[in-house]
Amino acid sequence: MYNEKVNDLLKEVKELFKDVNTKKELEDIKNNYMGKNGKITELQKLIKEIPNEEKRDFGMKVNEVKDLFNNEYNKLFESINLKEINDLLESERIDITLPSKKIKRGTLHPMTRIEEEFEDIFSSMGYTVYDGPEIESDENCFQKLNIPKGHPARDAQDTFYLKDEYEKFLIRSQTSTAQVRAMEENKEKGPLRIVCPGKVYRRDEDATHSHQFMQIEGLVIDKDISMADLKGTLELFCKKILGEKTKVRFRPSYFPFTEPSVEVDVTCFKCGGKGCNLCKQTGWIEVLGAGMVHPNVLEMCGYDSKKYQGFAFGTGMDRFAMFKYGIPDIRTIYGNDIRFLNQFDRKDED
Ligand code: PHE
Repeated sequence: MYNEKVNDLLKEVKELFKDVNTKKELEDIKNNYMGKNGKITELQKLIKEIPNEEKRDFGMKVNEVKDLFNNEYNKLFESINLKEINDLLESERIDITLPSKKIKRGTLHPMTRIEEEFEDIFSSMGYTVYDGPEIESDENCFQKLNIPKGHPARDAQDTFYLKDEYEKFLIRSQTSTAQVRAMEENKEKGPLRIVCPGKVYRRDEDATHSHQFMQIEGLVIDKDISMADLKGTLELFCKKILGEKTKVRFRPSYFPFTEPSVEVDVTCFKCGGKGCNLCKQTGWIEVLGAGMVHPNVLEMCGYDSKKYQGFAFGTGMDRFAMFKYGIPDIRTIYGNDIRFLNQFDRKDED
């Protein structure tokens, strides 16, 4: 009777895994046969009732059923598992031959571009780039540049003073402050040839003036420096940055820290000098202020003005960027609108 039971189960197990395809079905079968009340487990429990002489035979048969079950189960589990992994790999396959998404490329800010152009031209003429801080003393920004307290030249530049330090510290209104610093730092009081680009601040705000803009100042100090050096240098610079056809003219002007002083005009690059709305029909556009360094400034910064002369010049880099790249409103330069900035892609230079 017992033997019959085992033989029946053996037959049953042999057929058991035939149409099984999923792990879920496998789990159910395992519960039904090997679980707490599973068919094989139940059979094992019978061993207690079996007469001693039959126990051994019966035990061996039950083990045979169990081994068969486990073997079949493990084999099927492996193959279902493998199939599942393969299906997953297939469904999540990455096609590496598909074209990639276009990566958005950043562009250099127009002010960075113009600054690089200035620096390239001047470093090719032997100048070094000198940086000064944006917070400056009244002394460096005005007094040592021959603009004492109460001087009318302060009016145009009287600007953002630091709270609690009124009349002592301000955010600089001109990069000429770097002239003072470079001369004072030069302990040998020897020759200098520097350009100082940087931000300056004034109380202005309209389409062509911003309360913050970028200046660049140049300074050359040496023995036997004359107006001829100044003229030659600035003429060469204007032609390099605005094109060989550019004509340059010098008009007498006034700056407290230079004597004599000039303003530098260039032929309008839009109309070539014929007259248009950009140059207000004059054919000329003012681009630089310049002059021979005032002896007072040289002396205040520790130079012997009998031995050394120098020339200095300054300009707004924003102005050059506006002319060169055709930017009508200075405020767009500082607005950080990505649509504006994207127009300065260096496609032409690739
Ligand atoms: N710093 C002057 C300005 O801001 C420009 C300048 C510099 C003029 C050097 C002459 C010499 O107006």
